Amino acid sequence: MSEAREILFARPWITDEDRQAVLEVLNGHILTHGPQGKAFEEEFAAFLGSGAHCVSVSSCMAALHLAYLHYGIGRGDEVIVPAQTHTATAHAVEWVGARPIFVDCDPRTGNLTADSIAKAITPRTKAISVVHFVGIPCAMPEIAALAERHGLKLIEDCAIALGSRYEGRHVGLFGDAGCFSFYPVKHLTTGEGGMFVSRHAPVAEKVAKLRAFGVDRKHSERSIPGMYDVPALGLNYRMSEMAAALGRSQLRRLERNLAIRKENFARLKNGLAAAPNLQILDSEGNGVVSSHYCLSVVLEGRPTEVRNRLVTKLNLAGVGTSVYYPQPVPRLAYYRNKYGYDRQACCSAEVISDRSIALPVGPHLTGADIDHVAQTFVRIVKEETNV
Ligand SMILES: Cc1ncc(COP(=O)(O)O)c(C=O)c1O
Repeated sequence: MSEAREILFARPWITDEDRQAVLEVLNGHILTHGPQGKAFEEEFAAFLGSGAHCVSVSSCMAALHLAYLHYGIGRGDEVIVPAQTHTATAHAVEWVGARPIFVDCDPRTGNLTADSIAKAITPRTKAISVVHFVGIPCAMPEIAALAERHGLKLIEDCAIALGSRYEGRHVGLFGDAGCFSFYPVKHLTTGEGGMFVSRHAPVAEKVAKLRAFGVDRKHSERSIPGMYDVPALGLNYRMSEMAAALGRSQLRRLERNLAIRKENFARLKNGLAAAPNLQILDSEGNGVVSSHYCLSVVLEGRPTEVRNRLVTKLNLAGVGTSVYYPQPVPRLAYYRNKYGYDRQACCSAEVISDRSIALPVGPHLTGADIDHVAQTFVRIVKEETNV
């Protein structure tokens, strides 16, 4: 008899130190534009390394939007976007009036490759956006070289890739912008929030202004309080001081969070070895470090109904699951209606959306929890195979 357990797919990891950090801000009088935001940007840059310059923002989608605005990408331009991603990756392109050109993923990793990107480049292409799928880093040196050869901007969507590195360099630092998410179930949360990252200080400075209405000077740079000019059409995508204080506190546990995820991922992968015909999306090669956001299992050769039945059984058995991502973006109604949907061009993205299950590996789980997930999964897959 297995004991009853309730294993959530993900849960924010909030400690007393986190609560205290937020409370201290609330006990003061600076709730935005303050020292917490600046310190969070500096500490986050130190974690990433390689000369990162950071701008805290209200979400990853805000960071992506700012990236396209800053680089002047707009009407008439094309941006290469993965078909297998969160809708935010494509929405940011749509919001500047450019057209997302969807490219299918590598079925082993869920990532775009330099080869698949190269085939989609046209004279109208202005940028490439890549997503480090479930934390598995894309082969960035090749993709960055391709972007440079064609004079294209390279925007890295690192929403679920905090901690992912390729040959020692943190993702987000290969291209022209790195965009991170601090949504509650991410490696680090500020409730809602994100970070725009650049290797170039002047880019970060300009984006910091765009993030705050396009105002030309910070509070500290105003000779008369309240006096400023607005040379650019900016937005309000700022992060509050409460959020930044929470982010700083979370950052202190990030290495531990990543180490637990790595251990849980390896344990779960090992535990799933007893199940037939599974493909686990994972990083390949030396020097490739994943952030281990979740463990995505693709049920090879089995129809969507089987995947859905397995999910229902797992959930009934107390194992929380998710699907990353539930639809190829070009199949979502907005994109389908606007551009039409070509199934053939998204075969691998469809397999991941329709036949995969994302299993939990977060720091809320103990080794015993992971064993329970693996045993439950293997038992249910075997039952299904014998149906
Ligand atoms: C790949 C990807 N990009 C962007 C986002 C959007 O992040 P945010 O909610 O911070 O805007 C997500 C959210 O999960 C994501 O998975």
